[in-house]
Amino acid sequence: MSAAEQPMAGKPLNLGDFRTMRANGEAIACLTAYDAAFAAAQESAGIDLILVGDSLGMVIQGHRSTVPVRVDDILYHTRCVTRAVTRPWVVADMPFLSVRSPDYAVEQAGRLMQEGDAAMVKLEGGESQVDVARALADQGIPVCGHLGLQPQLFYKLGGFKVQGREAAAAQAIVDRARALEQAGADMILLECVPNAVTQAVVEATSVPVIGIGAGPHAHGQILVMHDMLNVTKGRKPRFVKDFMSEAGGVEAAFAAYVREVKSGAYPQPTHGFG
Ligand code: KIV
Repeated sequence: MSAAEQPMAGKPLNLGDFRTMRANGEAIACLTAYDAAFAAAQESAGIDLILVGDSLGMVIQGHRSTVPVRVDDILYHTRCVTRAVTRPWVVADMPFLSVRSPDYAVEQAGRLMQEGDAAMVKLEGGESQVDVARALADQGIPVCGHLGLQPQLFYKLGGFKVQGREAAAAQAIVDRARALEQAGADMILLECVPNAVTQAVVEATSVPVIGIGAGPHAHGQILVMHDMLNVTKGRKPRFVKDFMSEAGGVEAAFAAYVREVKSGAYPQPTHGFG
């Protein structure tokens, strides 16, 4: 990206900026945040996209999965984040059952944008995911489709497991990504899929693809903030890198993450699945 094309510091990023970053091969640095202080520190470090993820159910509320999270919870934390930042694109998660019908999803996404000031919503979902994405896009709501491991299926899957290992499952992810883009989705997030599946989704779509545990081929990377700061209790997934121990402080850890994502130093193929 030339200096003229570089988004100005402080100027809010928009969908066009992310498309330009994809086209120019500039990696998109993303993290989750749930409150004003951490969101502001992420902005200072140069984070491009902040996700107010339903992971807050686990890292903030202490649940064993994201299933108990309500739209009101996401709304509260989205407000905390959007008040604190200017440049990063803020994405609010659609929690469990909030996408149960296109009309209901439009209503709830509307709250996240109008009351929470979110710029985009991210949705998991089964067969109806594409219809819901289309209904949101029809209303002018920017949409990120979440594919691969969908943590809201915790009880159905029996835990958090890598998805798309078999050829048919991999193809289903690629087909869904393509269908989501055709329905109007502006971004795809891939979680815990083999690196080759990420490559296939990148080739099959023209929107920015953000990965978590999806290897180095995505256009951007995201991690749950608590994981990369090494404050999450218990065993961490293999794709997580601890940026805190080396950096020695929160702001330095965010800065190191942005540097490594932008330079391609993180993630390595070993941070994904073969
Ligand atoms: O809720 C969340 O934080 C997420 C990430 C795992 C990407 O969806």
